[in-house]
Amino acid sequence: MSDVIAPHVKKALDLIAEKTLQDETVIGAAFPYVTLPDGSWDTMSVGISAGYTGEDWSHGNWFCGFWVGLLLTSYLHTKDEKYLKLAHDRMVLVEERANDGNTHDIGFIFLSSAMPFYRITGEQRFRSAALKAADKLRSRLVVTDKGAYVSSWGPMEDPRGRASSAIDTMANIPLLYWAARESGDASFRLAAEAHAQMTMLSFRRPDDTLYHAVEYDTKTGDRLRGYTFQGAHDESYWSRGTGWAVMGLATSAANSGNMDFLSQAIALSEKWFACLGDKPVPPYDFDAEGSGVPEDSAASAIMAAGLLDLADLHPDASVASHWRKKAHWLIEGLCRDYLATDPKHRGILLHGCYSEPHKIGPDAAVMFGDYFFAEALCRIAFPDSFVPDYRK
Ligand code: GLY
Repeated sequence: MSDVIAPHVKKALDLIAEKTLQDETVIGAAFPYVTLPDGSWDTMSVGISAGYTGEDWSHGNWFCGFWVGLLLTSYLHTKDEKYLKLAHDRMVLVEERANDGNTHDIGFIFLSSAMPFYRITGEQRFRSAALKAADKLRSRLVVTDKGAYVSSWGPMEDPRGRASSAIDTMANIPLLYWAARESGDASFRLAAEAHAQMTMLSFRRPDDTLYHAVEYDTKTGDRLRGYTFQGAHDESYWSRGTGWAVMGLATSAANSGNMDFLSQAIALSEKWFACLGDKPVPPYDFDAEGSGVPEDSAASAIMAAGLLDLADLHPDASVASHWRKKAHWLIEGLCRDYLATDPKHRGILLHGCYSEPHKIGPDAAVMFGDYFFAEALCRIAFPDSFVPDYRK
């Protein structure tokens, strides 16, 4: 076990290591997704891809890589080889998704699994899988008169898919930056940079809140509409979106050298903290009304991970220190008030919210929240071990 890490960070990493190992013995070959009201994991098989059934869009299994990431963070924390073996076995299942060009989530799947697996072990097989996945992600680029974006959902030959863009694509493009460095092919980087530029042009409102999703005119690049899928309403401020954007902006600054991306990340973060107030976790949507509005601990975990990037990258030491403190404050709050220490609850963070409008995990542990929490903890406990160079 690591020995010089802060007690709250160690306690959380211990819990992750304990629960992932226990869950591996009961979940079979499927992958955890959101916790059910009784605290057990709802799971999904790896091969379920995103797609349309009539007019209904399903995201499929977009989270399988995060489970591998949790096993890898547990390996780094415990140095116990059995986590690496489990991560390898899971990776063999996840690998097939490198052929799935139907969704931007191919970025999430491989940047949380194959990339850190390769970084930790040097295993070429999974480097190749991550490069193949990056190639699929790059092929989702739609070039318009105004700029280019990586389309989010659906087969590219489906006009609904081509026109769609969601804010979380910003947190998928790090796979492209990594691929550019790894392969020497700058077109990966140019696609990601173009996407970040166009997203800020089309998603950012004048008050520094963001749309969750945008439908584009695929010829002109005009925004036909801004809307939401998981937020309260189309003009509302969905709290998870800002963390996704900050992550993509910081990575874009690191890889392009364009510091305007960092300034944008700071403006969005200032707005987010102004709305947050003194609690470490926001409501799932800052504009949701009524009583019993669910919180979203995942929004804070993702924001913390993005702010650690911002802090690592900012050239001004006092600005960097300000944002690092904010990230640590979020992590401390999550560790203090949101850890799922009851063994009956199988997740790591209580009170995440996958989708309140669809009532999917509206008050649950969510796999992506647990993963980005673990990633942030690892960055604090073992700087440079887990997060690859694309984030630098
Ligand atoms: N699909 C990403 C999110 O729910 O935030």
